[in-house]
Amino acid sequence: MPSTTQLTAWQALSAHHNVISSAHMRDWFSTDSDRFNRFSRRFGDILIDFSKHRMTDETLNLLLDLARESAVPVWIERMFSGAQINHTEHRSVLHVALRNRSNQPIVVDGQDVMPEVNRVLEQMRRFSEQIRSGAWIGFTGQRIRTVVNIGIGGSDLGPKMVCEALAPYGDANLTMHFVSSVDGSHISHVLSECNPETTLFIIASKTFTTQETMTNANTARGWLLAALGDEAAIAKHFVAVSTNTEKVRAFGIDTANMFEFWDWVGGRYSLWSAIGLPIAVYVGMANFTALLEGGHAMDQHFRQTPLPDNLPVILALLGVWYGDFFAADSHVMLVYDEYLRSLPAYLQQLDMESNGKSIDRQGLPVTRVTGPVVWGGLGSNGQHAFYQLLHQGTHLVPSDFLAPVNSQDPIGDHHAILLANCLAQSEAFMTGKTEAEARAELASKGMDGAELEALLPYKVFAGNRPSTTLLYQRLTPSVLGSLIALYEHKVFVQGIIWNINSFDQWGVELGKQLANNILPELKGERPAGAHDSSTLGLIGYCRGA
Ligand code: F6P
Repeated sequence: MPSTTQLTAWQALSAHHNVISSAHMRDWFSTDSDRFNRFSRRFGDILIDFSKHRMTDETLNLLLDLARESAVPVWIERMFSGAQINHTEHRSVLHVALRNRSNQPIVVDGQDVMPEVNRVLEQMRRFSEQIRSGAWIGFTGQRIRTVVNIGIGGSDLGPKMVCEALAPYGDANLTMHFVSSVDGSHISHVLSECNPETTLFIIASKTFTTQETMTNANTARGWLLAALGDEAAIAKHFVAVSTNTEKVRAFGIDTANMFEFWDWVGGRYSLWSAIGLPIAVYVGMANFTALLEGGHAMDQHFRQTPLPDNLPVILALLGVWYGDFFAADSHVMLVYDEYLRSLPAYLQQLDMESNGKSIDRQGLPVTRVTGPVVWGGLGSNGQHAFYQLLHQGTHLVPSDFLAPVNSQDPIGDHHAILLANCLAQSEAFMTGKTEAEARAELASKGMDGAELEALLPYKVFAGNRPSTTLLYQRLTPSVLGSLIALYEHKVFVQGIIWNINSFDQWGVELGKQLANNILPELKGERPAGAHDSSTLGLIGYCRGA
């Protein structure tokens, strides 16, 4: 099999890059009034504008050739049909089964997984209704008012992001907390706001062995028992979400209060599974189902739409174009939606844990860059902080703008101002400001001569900075589901093109192993072992040496 860089389409793109890399998008827009129409697509209530990219029709065609030559359609079908595409763990990758609203069979190891998926969804429905209606009573007879999800990584970021995003649909009688860090300050602060008699803990861990989660879970357990004084209280205040029944039982949680998922659900793809229990509890099962439906609609689009109109494929190809041909090493999410404030952190795990790989599917070192550094934040705030680098820095940073056309909280002119800023920023990234324009602007303010010439270079914006804008009518559960699935599939397609496995995460293991070595040394249970002088010095400092 030829390496990615040997593919005909890759080499054609390389040559094409040499030809168009110095062209300016501004010129393309001024000579082509149809550019937006050709390079934007609608998906339900979502508009995706990718016209502000350094690409022509030829670029897109060549990128689509790359997708074909990389067998993207074959890989899509392999995922949906349950093939073990996570080859290093011998696992299928079937988060799409969790939101398979068609209920068509999906077979893993000769078994249709849909009956199990539906069984757990039904269990989630019953439980979430009991909590929301007050039918579920705590140990002392009071109803649940506070839910604390204890998990980390995929067992935290997805449900946390979605609960925040769908807060307008949330139950006002419930307060949601998400404890993830093993930093004791996190759980201490959360517990200080909780009443043990009215608090439910959801211990969310695929493996039920994750050190941070189990440490927090034990602390929560001790706190509850200290207050309620009876082991029997655990059954009323703790439930578990996991693939590991034995460990859940060993922790002391009744497996009747366990919500199961399966090893074919990756942690960072798990919010659609029982890991979404806090979402179902907070927004209700009807809204959780609408989230699944939005994801499923994007799945069908991804599976059925020819490549030139396939949105995850287009976004993936643009990412490859910048990373591999323009040496862009990061991608920024610019979110003009307060409710999506945790989306960048969520996408950071999705993308970086999936495609932060340097060994290909044949076990060989990759020969070009793979996944970008993903970062970002709320756009309105970022404009007054990190946007300077995006406008005039030396890095090329492709960006995604996200904004709702309609606010969930209309108040005065706020939303129009927010949207105006969002649209203005992508326009500014693209057009920039030429020297002639900057000169005229300074002159119009009465500046001239040496003073003008000295300031002029600082006032020029090169522009030509690529961005995609995703607008949606309103952040409904269904729109959110489609957006998340869009990014999941984008990441998958990039992994296909880079010939890497996007579904394992061996890179997180080494730090865990070394932490387990250092822990007893820090606690003084054994002398510091064989470490480098830096690590020994740091251990010594922590121990007061
Ligand atoms: O250490 C990384 C990781 O395994 C992630 O992939 C995962 O989302 C997270 O830890 C939490 O894992 P678990 O759900 O098994 O506690």
